[in-house]
Amino acid sequence: MSMTEILIQKGILKNSFFTQALSNLGARFAVIMDETVASLYRPLLQNTHLDLTFFTFPPGEKSKTRRTKEYLEDQLFSCGFDRGCVLISMGGGVTLDLGGFIAATFCRGVSSVFIPTTLLAMVDAAIGGKTAVNTPYGKNLIGAFYLPKLIVMDPDCLDTLPEHEHRSGMAEVIKYALTLDPTILEITEKEKLIQRCVELKSQIVQEDYLENGKRRMLNFGHTIGHAIEALEGYAVSHGDAIAVGMLIECLMSCELGYLNKRSFSHIFNILTSHGFPLEISPKITQQNLLSQIAFDKKGSRFIVLKDIGEVVSTNCHEVTSEILERALDTYAELTCKT
Ligand SMILES: NC(=O)c1ccc[n+]([C@@H]2O[C@H](COP(=O)([O-])OP(=O)(O)OC[C@H]3O[C@@H](n4cnc5c(N)ncnc54)[C@H](O)[C@@H]3O)[C@@H](O)[C@H]2O)c1
Repeated sequence: MSMTEILIQKGILKNSFFTQALSNLGARFAVIMDETVASLYRPLLQNTHLDLTFFTFPPGEKSKTRRTKEYLEDQLFSCGFDRGCVLISMGGGVTLDLGGFIAATFCRGVSSVFIPTTLLAMVDAAIGGKTAVNTPYGKNLIGAFYLPKLIVMDPDCLDTLPEHEHRSGMAEVIKYALTLDPTILEITEKEKLIQRCVELKSQIVQEDYLENGKRRMLNFGHTIGHAIEALEGYAVSHGDAIAVGMLIECLMSCELGYLNKRSFSHIFNILTSHGFPLEISPKITQQNLLSQIAFDKKGSRFIVLKDIGEVVSTNCHEVTSEILERALDTYAELTCKT
């Protein structure tokens, strides 16, 4: 696994150190951003006076497709970009997954730089080299493992982030708390929180880059969460879907006799106190979930939680129709009451 340099510092994007770190990588830069991020942060990058060309696409999960990838690749070729370029992906997880995948395949791979601008992208998507696009058959089904050479995180970017996007990032923070380190939720300072999450994920990725063992635990909540996102046509945010996914997978862990009710209540309170919308649409039935999960590249398995901060094993458990049905029934009762 090649090394990635990770810089995390408030205000770093305005610092000459940032310009220097980029110019160490090359002379010509293609920058991929969604339109929202471009309207907010293009001027900041232009201030570096590096040779940058900007390429944009409409914001949102619906853009994370082979079609957008092809469109951006053709734009890069039409502007004369080749193997010697550096590709900067600046934005949320959608931009990083998409831009990182373009970097992996453009002229068989060019230098990649990530500048995450959402909490979710800083604490999770930027780390670990997973890149992908969605297909009509499911999420992240086409992609590659490809590490960026440099990741630059400026917590100041979070000042412009809407509240619901902040909450979405907190879903992945809560995932780390529930699977690895419950104390993470006590960290109130943004920069420290990001740093700790990056540390936790980097360590796991170092041990299991290709996700054959330990890294699977970071998929906690994602078997059900990804299926919900796809069934909802990506109309719910990734984090909101993962929050519901974590609760349903916790209920399945209870059904299997591992997680006790007291710990479950505590987890439920953590998620409700962060304001996650927990109602699910009538589309989220046992049958629809099972057929959607069947397309998941991870298979129809999920991470079982033993207690807060402890998973049963990284050998995930099969999602059976009986367990899922009972978990969905309990979930419906719980969310009716709130
Ligand atoms: N590769 C991985 O390991 C990994 C891990 C977790 C999630 N993901 C992926 O990440 C994606 C979700 O990421 P996301 O939640 O960041 O979504 P996103 O990239 O769609 O960003 C969310 C929204 O915030 C806007 N935005 C971004 N930065 C902003 C800022 N600083 N100020 C104001 N608005 C800003 C964007 O324009 C967008 O509308 C999903 O596709 C998920 O599959 C990947």
